[in-house]
Amino acid sequence: MSTSIPSRRVYIETYGCQMNVADSEVVGGILGSGGYALTKDLAEADAILVNTCAVRENAETRIYGRLGLFSTYKRRKPGVIVGILGCMAERLRKDLLEQERIDLVVGPDEYRRLPDLMDRAFQGEKGIAVRLSRVENYDDIMPLRTDGVSAWLSVMRGCDKFCTFCVVPFTRGRERSRSLKNLVDEVHALAERGFKEVTLLGQNVNSYRDGEHDFADLMKAVARVDRSMRVRFTTSHPQDMSDRLIEAIATEENLCPSVHLPVQSGADRILRLMNRTYTVDQYLRLVGKIRSTIPGVSLSTDIISGFPTETEAEHGMTVDLIREVRYDGAYTFKYSPRENTRAWEMPDDISDEEKGRRVWDVTELQHAISLEMNTAMIGSTVRVLVEGASRKSDRDDTGRTVTNRTVVFPHADEQPGDELDVRIERVNSATLIGVRAAEPVRSLSIKESAA
Ligand code: SAH
Ligand code: SF4
Ligand code: F3S
Repeated sequence: MSTSIPSRRVYIETYGCQMNVADSEVVGGILGSGGYALTKDLAEADAILVNTCAVRENAETRIYGRLGLFSTYKRRKPGVIVGILGCMAERLRKDLLEQERIDLVVGPDEYRRLPDLMDRAFQGEKGIAVRLSRVENYDDIMPLRTDGVSAWLSVMRGCDKFCTFCVVPFTRGRERSRSLKNLVDEVHALAERGFKEVTLLGQNVNSYRDGEHDFADLMKAVARVDRSMRVRFTTSHPQDMSDRLIEAIATEENLCPSVHLPVQSGADRILRLMNRTYTVDQYLRLVGKIRSTIPGVSLSTDIISGFPTETEAEHGMTVDLIREVRYDGAYTFKYSPRENTRAWEMPDDISDEEKGRRVWDVTELQHAISLEMNTAMIGSTVRVLVEGASRKSDRDDTGRTVTNRTVVFPHADEQPGDELDVRIERVNSATLIGVRAAEPVRSLSIKESAA
């Protein structure tokens, strides 16, 4: 694009998981090199890109709702183009492009083609690029990140697990990892830019493999870059939770003692139907190992309620499992049938109302457990990485503990990125509320101050 005309401005809206958030930053990097500028203001956009999620039907419904609004923008400002990126683009392909309001459909492995496809779309030519790749990992693209405290870092893409309910292997393709060396270089750059926390991302992040290096090696290498930087990861699959990884989290002081370990169900028959590759017993032993090796570790999970043929008794087993593990947090979902998956062939025989009731059971129990755990923390002092003003009040700041609990406290002179000690006075199931401890104990290591 010629430098004499101002760059066209692109507004990106992102749905779905953190990998999509990271991908939108990759897209930002690619568009920047392609002569486009990003804008956060929809009203001044020449192009609207929606990075979409297809994991459950309601994720797609929500996005269709937004597309309605974007169509009115198009009518008001002719020449504006609308593009669909991400997992819905990959899943629905031509069906989306047939809609008049959509100019571009680009899947997760084709983002390098965006500048070219967009140049053409501005000439009135609709474009589609949805091939999945076995190698594309955007290893050489510098994502366009806004400065801040926390950075996302995609370390691998795709998923080979094929859980029978899940569309991700179809929308993201096969697993592939970025090189350890490039990832470590990128973390150096993040540290220099002032980021205080990095979260290593992958749909199946602990199956990372770069030649001889596995995920434990990567975590250790990233941890060594800057000991004052907190390092997290998500999402791990129980099958790939190696002893070496657990050891690494226990011994490297800046690897946060917080593990998201989706279980999905507490019934062996359902786990088998889901192709999750572990039994409840194996999962519980893994939890035991994690808890005994990493003191103070926090554990969270994902649960699907109402998978095909799930009985009331099997739902009860999931409830029992949650009571036994006592997670710090859980994401709970109604089963949503997805085309092309193996579960799509199974009868979706649990009514929506019944799924809702089961999700409610699980959610209520988890809230009660979270509240008990948080209540037990009243009076203790936790080390907090400050993120900035709290959403509810300008007079309060918010931050997180190493175990990923949200803490709210009155704003004083601290800045985002500072660490400080907060004494907890009140709690609810989601948040700890406290005041700055009179005497911050700076000599505590990150782990010793673990909440
Ligand atoms: N790769 C991650 C999670 C990917 S999707 C993992 O394996 O844990 C995030 C969560 O969405 C899943 O853990 C699952 O609980 C939920 N999910 C995925 N497909 C779903 C479906 N078809 N219906 C309901 N929930 C689903
Ligand atoms: Fe989906 Fe299973 Fe892969 Fe997670 S591990 S992305 S749930 S197929
Ligand atoms: Fe959704 Fe795709 Fe992520 S389906 S959860 S955006 S990988």
